[in-house]
Amino acid sequence: KLPKFVQIKEVGPRDGLQNEKKWVSTESKIAWINMLSNTGIKEIEFSSFVNPKMIPALSDAREVGKQISRNPNVVYSALVPNQKGLEYALEAGIDGASVFMSASETHNQKNINKTIQDTYPVLKQVIEEAKAEGKHVTAYISTVFDCPYEGNMKPDAVISICEKLLEYGVDDLSLGDTIGSAVPSQVETLLDDILKRYPTEKVILHFHDTRGMAIANIMTAMNYGIYRFDSSIGGLGGCPYAPGAAGNVATNDVLYLLHRMGVETGINEKRIQEASLYIQNQLGKILPSRSLLASGL
Ligand code: HMG
Ligand code: MG
Repeated sequence: KLPKFVQIKEVGPRDGLQNEKKWVSTESKIAWINMLSNTGIKEIEFSSFVNPKMIPALSDAREVGKQISRNPNVVYSALVPNQKGLEYALEAGIDGASVFMSASETHNQKNINKTIQDTYPVLKQVIEEAKAEGKHVTAYISTVFDCPYEGNMKPDAVISICEKLLEYGVDDLSLGDTIGSAVPSQVETLLDDILKRYPTEKVILHFHDTRGMAIANIMTAMNYGIYRFDSSIGGLGGCPYAPGAAGNVATNDVLYLLHRMGVETGINEKRIQEASLYIQNQLGKILPSRSLLASGL
């Protein structure tokens, strides 16, 4: 039985743009995020407070955070890797902090330059301080199914990280198919384990659509009662430290699926198409969303 309502977090301005070679001006990012704020989306991940040398596309996170128009019905969150990132993010007015690490040792080291063991104390401090400031904290765990360097991951590796991060105080867990390789049976295996331990409302799934499996995986997860998903407008995106990783599942395609199956999201599809066209024009390339292509816009 499918959930009646699904919560979508729009990650396009963060996961979508982080890998783009073309610089999108701060002004255009702000105009675009303002459009997204009026689509009915309830949470927008607007940028990343990471080392700007590693993610130059988002080096204006502070300006963006300070200048976007805030819709009181929207939670504005951003990626925060460490203390310095949290300081900047608070200055920019985040509502929520997203911390992140990988289930795979190799991916973790390539992405955040630390072993898994050395990442824990850094995140513990960020989580505790963000919570003390009254912020919502989500933990992303990457490569929960497969790692581009280490191959198939075991649910135990994921669970030991979930345990620690929940103990430090995160509100929820976003499980990432970073390289878009999972198939529904892998989603079932992981959820069988995860949902034995944690309630459905704490679990978010974050699918990349590298191999076109994301919609099938979302259907599978919904049949397990999961109702929170991350997606990116137009299907923008990719992780720069995961070779071949394509964009997140397109918000447009997820909405097409859900609305036609009678699952509500509170999001206006037409406004999503308009915001997709806006960023498509800024980037000067056709975005991969199939329902956007089919809309003929
Ligand atoms: P580090 O390299 O270990 O660095 O950074 P450090 O602490 O020694 O600092 C190195 C330099 O970075 C210093 O500057 C710091 O000041 C600066 P320098 O002295 O060289 O001029 N620095 C910062 N500057 C601004 N804001 C900061 C910050 N921190 C350090 N917060 C760090 C560790 C984690 C920061 C770095 O490795 C990093 O930025 N990594 C980011 C990688 C990233 O953003 N990856 C993509 C996002 S994750 C993802 O896409 C997966 C996800 O979508 C889920 C999924 O799909 O699975 C979430
Ligand atoms: Mg991602």
